Amino acid sequence: MTSKIKIQNLTKYYGKQRGIENLNLEIYSGEIFGFLGPNGAGKTTTIRCMMNILLPNMGEIWINGGKITRRNPKIREKIGYIAEAGVLPETYTTNDFLNYVESMRSTPSPRRDELIKRFSLPVKKKIGELSKGNKQKVSIVAAFMHDPDVLILDEPTSGLDPLLQQETYDLILDAKSRGKTIFFSSHNLAEVQRICDRVGIVRDGHLISVLDIESLNKEVSRILEVTLRNPNKQELQKFGDNLLEIEENRARILVPQSDSIEKYLEILIPMKPEEIVFPPASLEDYFLQFYRQQEEGAI
Ligand SMILES: Nc1ncnc2c1ncn2[C@@H]1O[C@H](COP(=O)(O)OP(=O)(O)OP(=O)(O)O)[C@@H](O)[C@H]1O
Ligand SMILES: [Mg+2]
Repeated sequence: MTSKIKIQNLTKYYGKQRGIENLNLEIYSGEIFGFLGPNGAGKTTTIRCMMNILLPNMGEIWINGGKITRRNPKIREKIGYIAEAGVLPETYTTNDFLNYVESMRSTPSPRRDELIKRFSLPVKKKIGELSKGNKQKVSIVAAFMHDPDVLILDEPTSGLDPLLQQETYDLILDAKSRGKTIFFSSHNLAEVQRICDRVGIVRDGHLISVLDIESLNKEVSRILEVTLRNPNKQELQKFGDNLLEIEENRARILVPQSDSIEKYLEILIPMKPEEIVFPPASLEDYFLQFYRQQEEGAI
Protein backbone atom coordinates (compact mmCIF):
# COMPACT_ATOMS: atom_id res chain seq x y z
CA MET A 1 0.00 0.00 0.00
CA THR A 2 1.46 3.33 -1.03
CA SER A 3 1.20 6.10 1.51
CA LYS A 4 -0.30 9.25 -0.01
CA ILE A 5 -0.77 11.38 3.07
CA LYS A 6 1.30 11.05 6.22
CA ILE A 7 0.77 13.24 9.25
CA GLN A 8 3.19 12.94 12.16
CA ASN A 9 2.77 14.53 15.60
CA LEU A 10 0.78 17.43 14.16
CA THR A 11 0.09 20.07 16.78
CA LYS A 12 -1.44 23.48 16.18
CA TYR A 13 -2.41 25.95 18.89
CA TYR A 14 -3.98 29.36 18.33
CA GLY A 15 -2.30 31.14 21.22
CA LYS A 16 -3.54 29.13 24.16
CA GLN A 17 -6.47 27.67 22.25
CA ARG A 18 -5.85 24.10 21.14
CA GLY A 19 -6.62 23.42 17.48
CA ILE A 20 -5.19 19.90 17.09
CA GLU A 21 -2.71 17.98 19.24
CA ASN A 22 -0.27 15.23 18.40
CA LEU A 23 -2.17 13.89 15.39
CA ASN A 24 -0.71 10.85 13.63
CA LEU A 25 -2.43 9.53 10.54
CA GLU A 26 -1.57 7.76 7.33
CA ILE A 27 -3.82 7.60 4.26
CA TYR A 28 -3.11 5.17 1.44
CA SER A 29 -3.37 5.45 -2.31
CA GLY A 30 -6.92 4.97 -3.62
CA GLU A 31 -8.62 5.39 -0.25
CA ILE A 32 -11.59 7.54 0.64
CA PHE A 33 -10.93 8.63 4.20
CA GLY A 34 -13.62 10.38 6.23
CA PHE A 35 -12.54 12.79 8.95
CA LEU A 36 -15.36 13.03 11.48
CA GLY A 37 -15.88 15.02 14.61
CA PRO A 38 -18.15 17.51 16.33
CA ASN A 39 -17.88 21.29 15.91
CA GLY A 40 -14.54 22.62 17.07
CA ALA A 41 -12.89 19.16 17.09
CA GLY A 42 -9.93 20.27 14.96
CA LYS A 43 -10.84 19.09 11.45
CA THR A 44 -10.40 22.42 9.64
CA THR A 45 -7.23 23.15 11.60
CA THR A 46 -5.75 19.84 10.40
CA ILE A 47 -6.83 20.44 6.81
CA ARG A 48 -5.46 23.99 6.77
CA CYS A 49 -2.11 22.67 8.02
CA MET A 50 -2.19 20.05 5.25
CA MET A 51 -2.78 22.82 2.72
CA ASN A 52 0.08 24.91 4.11
CA ILE A 53 -2.31 27.71 5.03
CA LEU A 54 -1.53 27.35 8.74
CA LEU A 55 1.92 26.78 10.14
CA PRO A 56 1.85 24.04 12.78
CA ASN A 57 3.59 24.44 16.12
CA MET A 58 4.94 20.95 15.75
CA GLY A 59 4.80 17.97 13.45
CA GLU A 60 5.28 17.09 9.83
CA ILE A 61 3.01 16.38 6.86
CA TRP A 62 3.85 14.59 3.62
CA ILE A 63 1.47 14.54 0.68
CA ASN A 64 2.24 12.67 -2.54
CA GLY A 65 5.74 12.02 -1.23
CA GLY A 66 6.54 15.71 -0.74
CA LYS A 67 6.93 17.40 2.60
CA ILE A 68 4.61 20.33 3.25
CA THR A 69 6.76 23.36 3.99
CA ARG A 70 6.68 27.04 3.18
CA ARG A 71 9.52 26.40 0.73
CA ASN A 72 7.62 23.74 -1.17
CA PRO A 73 4.47 25.51 -2.50
CA LYS A 74 4.33 23.43 -5.71
CA ILE A 75 2.93 20.44 -3.77
CA ARG A 76 -0.40 22.26 -3.51
CA GLU A 77 -0.78 22.22 -7.29
CA LYS A 78 -1.17 18.44 -7.29
CA ILE A 79 -3.92 18.60 -4.69
CA GLY A 80 -7.58 19.42 -5.19
CA TYR A 81 -8.83 21.46 -2.24
CA ILE A 82 -12.24 22.65 -1.15
CA ALA A 83 -12.06 25.08 1.76
CA GLU A 84 -14.69 25.13 4.50
CA ALA A 85 -17.35 27.64 3.43
CA GLY A 86 -14.86 28.88 0.86
CA VAL A 87 -15.08 32.55 -0.02
CA LEU A 88 -15.15 33.15 -3.76
CA PRO A 89 -14.62 36.51 -5.52
CA GLU A 90 -18.19 37.72 -6.02
CA THR A 91 -17.44 40.10 -8.90
CA TYR A 92 -15.75 37.44 -11.04
CA THR A 93 -17.72 35.31 -13.45
CA THR A 94 -17.24 31.54 -13.00
CA ASN A 95 -15.12 31.52 -16.16
CA ASP A 96 -12.91 34.35 -14.89
CA PHE A 97 -12.45 32.59 -11.56
CA LEU A 98 -11.59 29.22 -13.12
CA ASN A 99 -9.13 31.02 -15.46
CA TYR A 100 -7.56 32.64 -12.43
CA VAL A 101 -7.25 29.31 -10.57
CA GLU A 102 -5.76 27.76 -13.70
CA SER A 103 -3.21 30.58 -14.00
CA MET A 104 -2.05 29.93 -10.43
CA ARG A 105 -1.20 26.31 -11.29
CA SER A 106 1.43 25.05 -13.67
CA THR A 107 -0.78 22.05 -14.47
CA PRO A 108 -3.53 22.11 -17.16
CA SER A 109 -7.23 21.48 -16.40
CA PRO A 110 -8.21 18.54 -18.60
CA ARG A 111 -11.55 18.03 -16.83
CA ARG A 112 -12.76 21.63 -16.75
CA ASP A 113 -15.29 21.48 -19.62
CA GLU A 114 -16.53 18.01 -18.67
CA LEU A 115 -17.20 19.08 -15.08
CA ILE A 116 -18.90 22.36 -16.06
CA LYS A 117 -21.23 20.30 -18.23
CA ARG A 118 -21.76 17.60 -15.61
CA PHE A 119 -22.77 20.19 -13.00
CA SER A 120 -24.66 22.44 -15.50
CA LEU A 121 -22.68 25.38 -14.16
CA PRO A 122 -23.57 28.83 -15.54
CA VAL A 123 -20.11 30.12 -16.48
CA LYS A 124 -20.90 33.64 -17.63
CA LYS A 125 -22.78 34.80 -14.52
CA LYS A 126 -21.04 36.70 -11.76
CA ILE A 127 -20.32 34.41 -8.80
CA GLY A 128 -22.11 36.89 -6.49
CA GLU A 129 -25.33 36.22 -8.41
CA LEU A 130 -25.17 32.43 -8.04
CA SER A 131 -27.17 30.39 -5.54
CA LYS A 132 -25.31 28.78 -2.62
CA GLY A 133 -25.42 25.38 -4.35
CA ASN A 134 -24.02 26.81 -7.58
CA LYS A 135 -21.25 28.58 -5.66
CA GLN A 136 -20.30 25.25 -4.10
CA LYS A 137 -20.28 23.73 -7.59
CA VAL A 138 -17.73 26.37 -8.63
CA SER A 139 -15.49 25.28 -5.73
CA ILE A 140 -15.98 21.64 -6.67
CA VAL A 141 -15.05 22.21 -10.33
CA ALA A 142 -11.99 24.25 -9.29
CA ALA A 143 -10.87 21.42 -6.99
CA PHE A 144 -11.36 18.60 -9.49
CA MET A 145 -10.61 20.18 -12.90
CA HIS A 146 -6.84 19.54 -12.92
CA ASP A 147 -7.51 15.86 -12.12
CA PRO A 148 -5.30 15.85 -9.00
CA ASP A 149 -4.01 12.65 -7.38
CA VAL A 150 -5.07 13.79 -3.93
CA LEU A 151 -8.27 15.59 -2.95
CA ILE A 152 -8.65 17.31 0.39
CA LEU A 153 -12.20 18.45 0.96
CA ASP A 154 -13.45 20.30 4.04
CA GLU A 155 -17.16 19.49 4.38
CA PRO A 156 -17.73 19.43 0.62
CA THR A 157 -21.46 18.65 0.88
CA SER A 158 -22.39 21.01 3.70
CA GLY A 159 -25.45 23.09 2.81
CA LEU A 160 -26.16 21.21 -0.42
CA ASP A 161 -29.56 19.75 -1.33
CA PRO A 162 -29.77 15.92 -1.50
CA LEU A 163 -29.47 15.88 -5.28
CA LEU A 164 -26.30 17.95 -5.31
CA GLN A 165 -24.94 15.95 -2.36
CA GLN A 166 -25.42 12.80 -4.40
CA GLU A 167 -23.66 14.37 -7.39
CA THR A 168 -20.73 15.22 -5.15
CA TYR A 169 -20.55 11.67 -3.74
CA ASP A 170 -20.64 10.31 -7.28
CA LEU A 171 -17.75 12.58 -8.20
CA ILE A 172 -15.76 11.42 -5.16
CA LEU A 173 -16.47 7.73 -5.88
CA ASP A 174 -15.61 8.30 -9.51
CA ALA A 175 -12.29 9.89 -8.43
CA LYS A 176 -11.57 6.79 -6.31
CA SER A 177 -12.26 4.52 -9.28
CA ARG A 178 -9.67 6.56 -11.20
CA GLY A 179 -7.12 5.72 -8.50
CA LYS A 180 -7.28 9.05 -6.63
CA THR A 181 -6.97 9.46 -2.87
CA ILE A 182 -9.65 11.46 -1.08
CA PHE A 183 -9.55 12.91 2.43
CA PHE A 184 -12.72 14.69 3.47
CA SER A 185 -14.28 16.04 6.62
CA SER A 186 -17.95 15.72 7.42
CA HIS A 187 -20.61 15.71 10.10
CA ASN A 188 -22.84 13.37 8.17
CA LEU A 189 -22.39 9.81 9.49
CA ALA A 190 -24.60 8.17 6.87
CA GLU A 191 -22.74 9.71 3.93
CA VAL A 192 -19.39 8.82 5.42
CA GLN A 193 -20.48 5.24 6.01
CA ARG A 194 -21.71 4.93 2.47
CA ILE A 195 -18.68 6.20 0.60
CA CYS A 196 -15.61 5.92 2.86
CA ASP A 197 -13.17 3.06 3.23
CA ARG A 198 -11.97 4.26 6.64
CA VAL A 199 -12.89 6.99 9.07
CA GLY A 200 -10.95 8.87 11.70
CA ILE A 201 -12.79 10.43 14.60
CA VAL A 202 -11.48 13.59 16.27
CA ARG A 203 -12.70 15.19 19.43
CA ASP A 204 -11.26 18.06 21.48
CA GLY A 205 -8.20 18.24 19.27
CA HIS A 206 -7.37 14.52 19.50
CA LEU A 207 -7.75 11.62 17.13
CA ILE A 208 -9.67 9.12 19.23
CA SER A 209 -10.42 6.32 16.79
CA VAL A 210 -9.68 5.08 13.29
CA LEU A 211 -12.18 2.60 11.93
CA ASP A 212 -12.37 0.44 8.85
CA ILE A 213 -15.96 0.66 7.54
CA GLU A 214 -15.91 -2.96 6.38
CA SER A 215 -15.30 -4.15 9.91
CA LEU A 216 -18.09 -2.00 11.35
CA ASN A 217 -20.40 -5.00 11.75
CA LYS A 218 -17.79 -6.70 13.93
CA GLU A 219 -17.28 -3.66 16.14
CA VAL A 220 -20.83 -2.79 17.02
CA SER A 221 -23.47 -4.55 19.09
CA ARG A 222 -26.70 -4.72 17.11
CA ILE A 223 -30.34 -5.29 17.90
CA LEU A 224 -32.27 -8.14 16.36
CA GLU A 225 -36.04 -7.78 16.17
CA VAL A 226 -38.18 -10.88 15.87
CA THR A 227 -41.93 -11.24 15.34
CA LEU A 228 -43.47 -14.46 16.72
CA ARG A 229 -47.02 -15.74 16.42
CA ASN A 230 -47.07 -17.06 19.98
CA PRO A 231 -44.06 -15.78 21.91
CA ASN A 232 -42.86 -18.39 24.38
CA LYS A 233 -41.47 -16.27 27.18
CA GLN A 234 -39.68 -19.20 28.77
CA GLU A 235 -37.86 -20.06 25.55
CA LEU A 236 -36.97 -16.41 25.02
CA GLN A 237 -35.34 -16.32 28.47
CA LYS A 238 -32.53 -18.38 26.86
CA PHE A 239 -31.21 -15.03 25.64
CA GLY A 240 -30.63 -13.98 29.26
CA ASP A 241 -29.73 -10.31 29.72
CA ASN A 242 -29.61 -9.87 25.96
CA LEU A 243 -33.39 -10.09 25.80
CA LEU A 244 -34.15 -6.39 25.93
CA GLU A 245 -37.95 -6.41 25.73
CA ILE A 246 -41.00 -8.37 24.70
CA GLU A 247 -43.89 -6.31 23.43
CA GLU A 248 -46.99 -8.20 22.30
CA ASN A 249 -45.67 -10.61 19.64
CA ARG A 250 -42.32 -8.85 19.12
CA ALA A 251 -39.03 -9.29 20.94
CA ARG A 252 -35.88 -7.16 20.79
CA ILE A 253 -32.62 -8.97 21.42
CA LEU A 254 -29.16 -7.49 21.75
CA VAL A 255 -26.43 -9.23 19.75
CA PRO A 256 -23.08 -8.18 21.26
CA GLN A 257 -20.24 -7.52 18.82
CA SER A 258 -18.38 -10.61 20.04
CA ASP A 259 -21.28 -12.97 19.19
CA SER A 260 -22.13 -14.51 15.84
CA ILE A 261 -25.76 -14.34 14.71
CA GLU A 262 -25.95 -18.13 14.22
CA LYS A 263 -26.24 -18.83 17.93
CA TYR A 264 -29.30 -16.58 18.09
CA LEU A 265 -30.93 -18.08 15.03
CA GLU A 266 -30.53 -21.60 16.45
CA ILE A 267 -32.76 -20.58 19.35
CA LEU A 268 -35.19 -18.55 17.24
CA ILE A 269 -35.80 -20.79 14.23
CA PRO A 270 -37.59 -23.59 16.23
CA MET A 271 -40.03 -20.89 17.41
CA LYS A 272 -41.10 -20.48 13.76
CA PRO A 273 -40.73 -16.69 13.65
CA GLU A 274 -42.86 -14.70 11.22
CA GLU A 275 -40.15 -12.11 10.66
CA ILE A 276 -36.58 -11.46 11.74
CA VAL A 277 -35.04 -8.03 11.22
CA PHE A 278 -31.30 -7.66 11.75
CA PRO A 279 -30.17 -4.29 10.42
CA PRO A 280 -26.53 -3.74 9.45
CA ALA A 281 -24.47 -1.74 11.91
CA SER A 282 -24.45 1.98 11.34
CA LEU A 283 -21.75 4.47 12.15
CA GLU A 284 -24.33 6.06 14.39
CA ASP A 285 -24.56 2.83 16.45
CA TYR A 286 -20.76 2.80 16.58
CA PHE A 287 -20.66 6.37 17.86
CA LEU A 288 -23.28 5.71 20.52
CA GLN A 289 -21.54 2.56 21.70
CA PHE A 290 -18.12 4.20 21.53
CA TYR A 291 -19.10 7.18 23.62
CA ARG A 292 -21.00 5.00 26.09
CA GLN A 293 -17.90 2.87 26.63
CA GLN A 294 -15.80 6.00 27.06
CA GLU A 295 -18.15 7.32 29.70
CA GLU A 296 -18.04 3.99 31.50
CA GLY A 297 -14.27 4.25 31.47
CA ALA A 298 -13.82 1.18 29.29
CA ILE A 299 -11.67 3.10 26.80
N1 LIG B 1 -8.44 31.38 13.92
C1 LIG B 1 -8.66 30.82 15.10
N2 LIG B 1 -8.33 31.45 16.26
C2 LIG B 1 -8.51 30.88 17.47
N3 LIG B 1 -9.04 29.67 17.65
C3 LIG B 1 -9.40 28.98 16.54
C4 LIG B 1 -9.24 29.51 15.22
N4 LIG B 1 -9.69 28.61 14.35
C5 LIG B 1 -10.12 27.56 15.06
N5 LIG B 1 -9.97 27.77 16.39
C6 LIG B 1 -10.30 26.85 17.49
O1 LIG B 1 -9.63 25.62 17.28
C7 LIG B 1 -10.47 24.52 17.61
C8 LIG B 1 -10.63 23.63 16.41
O2 LIG B 1 -11.35 24.33 15.41
P1 LIG B 1 -11.61 23.77 13.94
O3 LIG B 1 -12.12 24.89 13.12
O4 LIG B 1 -10.38 23.10 13.48
O5 LIG B 1 -12.75 22.69 14.23
P2 LIG B 1 -13.64 21.83 13.20
O6 LIG B 1 -13.50 20.42 13.62
O7 LIG B 1 -13.28 22.17 11.81
O8 LIG B 1 -15.11 22.32 13.56
P3 LIG B 1 -16.42 22.50 12.61
O9 LIG B 1 -17.03 21.14 12.51
O10 LIG B 1 -17.26 23.45 13.37
O11 LIG B 1 -15.97 23.05 11.29
C9 LIG B 1 -11.77 25.13 18.12
O12 LIG B 1 -11.73 25.19 19.51
C10 LIG B 1 -11.77 26.52 17.51
O13 LIG B 1 -12.49 27.42 18.32
MG1 LIG C 1 -14.35 22.90 10.23
